[in-house]
Amino acid sequence: MDSNEIRQKFLDYFAKNGHQIVPSSSLIPYGDKTILFTNAGMNQFKNTFLGIEKRDYNRAVTSQKVMRVSGKHNDLENVGPSPRHHTFFEMLGNFSFGDYFKEGAMRFALELLTKEYGLEMERLWFTIYTDDDEAEQLWLKCGVRPDRILRFGEKDNFWSMGETGPCGPCSEIHYFTGADMADNTPDHVNSDDDNDQTTVEIWNLVFMQYEREGKGGQTPLPKPSIDTGMGFERLCRVLQGGASNYDTDLFQPVFDCIQELAGHSDAQRNEQYVAYRVIADHVRAASFLIGDGVLPGNEGRNYVLRMVMRRAMRYGRKIGFTQPFLYQVCQAVIEKMGGYYTDLVNRKDHITNTIKREEEGFARTLEAGLERLDAIVQATPAITTHVGFSQTVTGNSISGQDAFKLYDTYGLPLEITRDVAKERGFSIDEAGFEKAREAAKEIARSAGKENFAGNFDQVKAYREAFEALKSDGALPESGVRYDPYGTLEMITGLVGILRDGEMTDHAVLGETVEVILHDTPFYVESGGQVSDTGEISNKFWRMNVLDTRRPAPGFVVHTCQVSEGAPRTGDPCVAYVDKARRASIKRNHTATHLLQKCLRTVLGAHVGQQGSLVAPDRLRFDFSHSAAMTRDEIEKVSDLLNDAILQDMPVWAQEQSYKEAIASGAMAFFSEKYGDVVRVVRVGFAGDDLFDPEIFSAELCGGTHVKRTGEIGSAVVVSESAVAAGVRRIEVLTGKGALEYARKQSQQIAQIAHAVNATSDTAAEQVNKVTVQLSEAQKQLEQLKRAVAKSQFDALLKTSVVRRQTSDVLIAQVQTDSSELLREMSDWFREKHPSGVVVLGAVIGDKPSLVVSVSQDLTKKGFEAGKLIKEIAAVVGGGGGGKPTLAYAGGKDASKLGEALAKAEQLLAGV
Ligand code: SER
Repeated sequence: MDSNEIRQKFLDYFAKNGHQIVPSSSLIPYGDKTILFTNAGMNQFKNTFLGIEKRDYNRAVTSQKVMRVSGKHNDLENVGPSPRHHTFFEMLGNFSFGDYFKEGAMRFALELLTKEYGLEMERLWFTIYTDDDEAEQLWLKCGVRPDRILRFGEKDNFWSMGETGPCGPCSEIHYFTGADMADNTPDHVNSDDDNDQTTVEIWNLVFMQYEREGKGGQTPLPKPSIDTGMGFERLCRVLQGGASNYDTDLFQPVFDCIQELAGHSDAQRNEQYVAYRVIADHVRAASFLIGDGVLPGNEGRNYVLRMVMRRAMRYGRKIGFTQPFLYQVCQAVIEKMGGYYTDLVNRKDHITNTIKREEEGFARTLEAGLERLDAIVQATPAITTHVGFSQTVTGNSISGQDAFKLYDTYGLPLEITRDVAKERGFSIDEAGFEKAREAAKEIARSAGKENFAGNFDQVKAYREAFEALKSDGALPESGVRYDPYGTLEMITGLVGILRDGEMTDHAVLGETVEVILHDTPFYVESGGQVSDTGEISNKFWRMNVLDTRRPAPGFVVHTCQVSEGAPRTGDPCVAYVDKARRASIKRNHTATHLLQKCLRTVLGAHVGQQGSLVAPDRLRFDFSHSAAMTRDEIEKVSDLLNDAILQDMPVWAQEQSYKEAIASGAMAFFSEKYGDVVRVVRVGFAGDDLFDPEIFSAELCGGTHVKRTGEIGSAVVVSESAVAAGVRRIEVLTGKGALEYARKQSQQIAQIAHAVNATSDTAAEQVNKVTVQLSEAQKQLEQLKRAVAKSQFDALLKTSVVRRQTSDVLIAQVQTDSSELLREMSDWFREKHPSGVVVLGAVIGDKPSLVVSVSQDLTKKGFEAGKLIKEIAAVVGGGGGGKPTLAYAGGKDASKLGEALAKAEQLLAGV
């Protein structure tokens, strides 16, 4: 069975058993700040387990993209030597949300493994949590032999997502892969030794029962649930009979590609298996991360992506790659995985280009960084520590400062330094590294509003408030009725007031509180569109709505300041959205969709949205594209955009299944969360036929839009710039903003025209003329000044040159405001007096300047300009230098210039 069949069989089996097939969520967790990357299949269902999000199914099955490279679940250092660990992998899982529990999960697992995949029962082992007698009884009931059930502690058989979140005891299924059944003994189960992986853990059945609340607190979940996770690569290994996860059709094509590019023999490939594994694993991780919208950078997720790519490059270098190669290896990944994860194919160019750019950028410093690291290793003395009387331990450690310098100056991620250090028997002072990094980091933390979604303590406070409002009947089970698409004036009721996260029954004049309404027309920031503002009031009181957010699904809160009276919970009221502001936002949002289409038309289909801001005063759109747009391209985009507006096309939103929407060509932005049913906003003249070519644009979007494009009025592109490597940013103004912009521009032109005595039409021409005239006048002025200086200097030459034994000497203060001319004067002296010394001083811009010129013959007698000027300039508090024949200096104190020239007299007495 090849991997695609294995995956499909899993999904089909559970679908047949009443499970909804749910697509993998993005590797970027949606609205959950407790994890950096999606680290388990259950992440996208976290709120469903916790009972704060309802779904219309209670059984689900997924094949989920997962990264384990940070936080509680981090396998990075094992990748390579280990036959079974990865940074990126796929996790197959079935889930029950309060439906079947332990026994159901066990029966499904056994049936699938033995009947569908045909694994032998005699080879299976089952581990359970120390005191989970129930699990033991149930496995026995399912026909498992008692001696195949082993008990383990918290580390192996209690699963939690992190410090917080759902958790519970678990039961793992392990598989004996050995040839000799006599060796099928319990001591191979849960072996930490990578050389003893005869028995491998393949599936983890978690009995979700509790919620961890940080600091050791734990409460029961609303309903016991099931979360299972099977390592897809391990399952493929077992079914395909390989010795490691890499001996499967998931990795071998990638290895083949590396081998071909490296020009290795089979023997070399086998010998270098660690490097092959690291490269294959990391390229998979990089391809999927970039496919999900992550770009290489220096912080957080972006750093992890950069780190895995650089780590792969370093391993590449070890096996002989001197040129970028990862971007070629990623083609094999996309080919293998693109059938199921179609985003990889859709974003192939973006993925390839991003990898290539990073490789090219790093290639320049990698060599230098590794050399520097070698030098540090050489220079670090071995430290011997005495333990007790007889034992000594020798350990060498690279200082945190050095490791940070390598990171900061050479771009060597700490993980690479650690790898190399480890190979040489060194460790790294990682605490010192962190300290150095913190010290170097001067990121002004934005004082902007905090995003509550995912910040656990606050989320908990909101959740309690939400639960209380529901159980009091103030809100229905589904939460606040949210309808930003209809009327902007809504009659409703004030159902709750929160003061610093605590429920209260009233608010007082002037205070800022968070307000919950029974129904709301206020849009909550999402998909780049900012939240609405406005007013909530009744006859007795009034509040300004400053912001709106959704701390938990179904729970919308308005940040309000009381401007009149004292609102109380239970009061009827009317919610008014600021209509003019909303109208501007709508224009900008629809324009954003049109813009994306126009950019793709002009620049190509690789243009993909990387982020956007839809505000009342402007729209900002970030997109993948490698070069700056030319003026011509910007103009074309601008023309198309305005044509689309002038065509006055209808805009309409429609709900449909995700699959249908994507099949019809609707565009989706990957880091957004999409459910099974999505809202698609379309622009164009087409009727109900979603495939009609008349459809100008179709995007998955929850935002608010104009009814017809004509409402946008007009659009003007005001800037185009770079945001990150491979990402450009365009800013556009629409409607009144565009008008205002045009007005300001023409006012400025009028001012310029007035200043140069022209009309707006002739201003540009006139400015050109004036500029040319000005530069000619300046040139003439310079010539004039020079002529005057020359004639004055000629007079000086006549009167002030002193004839010594064989040479002529001139020491004088001259008047000029140009150091150029001062220098030239020394040339004029030389023309007339081939053998001699000139020392000139001038005050230029109230600072003293000096020049000394000595003829060649005199330098031989020990008079050198460079040396002379040092002593002379010291008098005016300056320094300078130059050649033996010519030197310049500046100084600080102009009043001492005379003294400096007297010093020159003294020094030149012997000429
Ligand atoms: N959440 C569990 C794991 O990641 C099972 O899916 O192992």
